[in-house]
Amino acid sequence: MSARIAFDDGLLAEDCLTRVPGVRLRRLAPADAAALAAGLNDLEVAKNLVAVPHPYGAEDATVFLRGPAASPHMLCAGLWVEDSFAGCVAIDATAGFPELGYWLVRAHWGRGIVSAATRALVDLAFAATAIEKIVSGHFVDNAASAAVLRKLGFKPAGVVETRSRARAEPVRLVAMNLEREAWAAGRPTIETARLVMRPPLMADADEIAALANDGGLPLTTAATPRVRRPEEARAFVLQALRRGFPADASFCMRLRESGALIGGIGWRDAGADEVELGYWLGADHRGVGLATEAARAALEAAFETTGAATVKACCRPINPASRGVLERCGFQWSGAGHMRPQASGGSVPVDRFRLERDVFYSLKAWGAAAIRTGSATEAPAGALSRPAERA
Ligand SMILES: CC(C)(COP(=O)(O)OP(=O)(O)OC[C@H]1O[C@@H](n2cnc3c(N)ncnc32)[C@H](O)[C@@H]1OP(=O)(O)O)[C@@H](O)C(=O)NCCC(=O)NCCS
Repeated sequence: MSARIAFDDGLLAEDCLTRVPGVRLRRLAPADAAALAAGLNDLEVAKNLVAVPHPYGAEDATVFLRGPAASPHMLCAGLWVEDSFAGCVAIDATAGFPELGYWLVRAHWGRGIVSAATRALVDLAFAATAIEKIVSGHFVDNAASAAVLRKLGFKPAGVVETRSRARAEPVRLVAMNLEREAWAAGRPTIETARLVMRPPLMADADEIAALANDGGLPLTTAATPRVRRPEEARAFVLQALRRGFPADASFCMRLRESGALIGGIGWRDAGADEVELGYWLGADHRGVGLATEAARAALEAAFETTGAATVKACCRPINPASRGVLERCGFQWSGAGHMRPQASGGSVPVDRFRLERDVFYSLKAWGAAAIRTGSATEAPAGALSRPAERA
């Protein structure tokens, strides 16, 4: 690897949610030293790590927080379960390939917490940087960690003898690698006849801004965020990356044939068994049914992956094209109101729409989309075709 990766300080400026409700990644703070030390001062944890001595005290934690954890070359997050500090996940790029490491307070083991947390961090690192490969590894006697890495798509790359500071004797470590290509193949993907939709990457930001900045009235719902300037597009991508799929989801819409970006679509958690759909389309791609095609597939993905009972949406009365998309998907008008689509803008009148799950499925004669959720465990088996999961 030529240059060391430096992680943007803004990546963890806000909490990063994960697939498990209540489990989030948060930037570490000096005040976390005592909790960090309490969690790591457990031989059952430390004996599975290379660099952690046993016993481990608050001073060790403070040195770690002030040193490696604060380096721009380490993406290091505290792992929070509800309101409790519960461990750490980190990608260390201070030397060689970026290396994933993690540990969890013992009381929380066996609930899928580290699987969700490491997935969120790996997604953030690959999506926000140009990293080509993340390496990791587990001691041969650490079956839980082996399972975590396998589920993320890591592949074995050999066995080496190494030392753990908490163990007296040498220990064998199974080295594991995750290439960007394998990571990308496992991301949530929605495919239709003409479209391939994937979550945005930071590398998409300039393209998103250029497409959205067309000056005309975009085919957009009132809930679509403003992404017209490059910095707004980067903030939008970052926000999308920090949200927890499948409760919230954001996809770039690209034409299957040319790969050209044509718009965006997604949903967000609206509470009480409900999600809200939003979408927009670049000016040159309107009027040929692409938004309807995207919306039907996204609705199917939203119903399948979130289990929501209803999807809501709203559009401005001056936007009949967007209203048409909603109506063709089976949405029904549920009232008029106002909303404030942008923090900077004023409130605008909107028409509100709702779509019940049962109505959606009884109308769904347009054929199944191919939807891959990135994990075999989230989505119930349904009418969707899913490419095989990684082992
Ligand atoms: C390894 C560790 C991070 C796992 O955290 P966790 O939140 O319990 O992990 P998850 O629940 O997300 O996943 C654990 C997986 O291992 C499996 N597993 C757990 N114990 C196992 C065992 N003894 N044999 C086989 N599989 C096991 C679980 O079934 C689960 O897989 P599944 O989801 O396919 O069922 C945690 O045990 C820990 O902090 N250990 C000490 C530090 C450490 O080992 N860090 C990693 C160093 S490489």
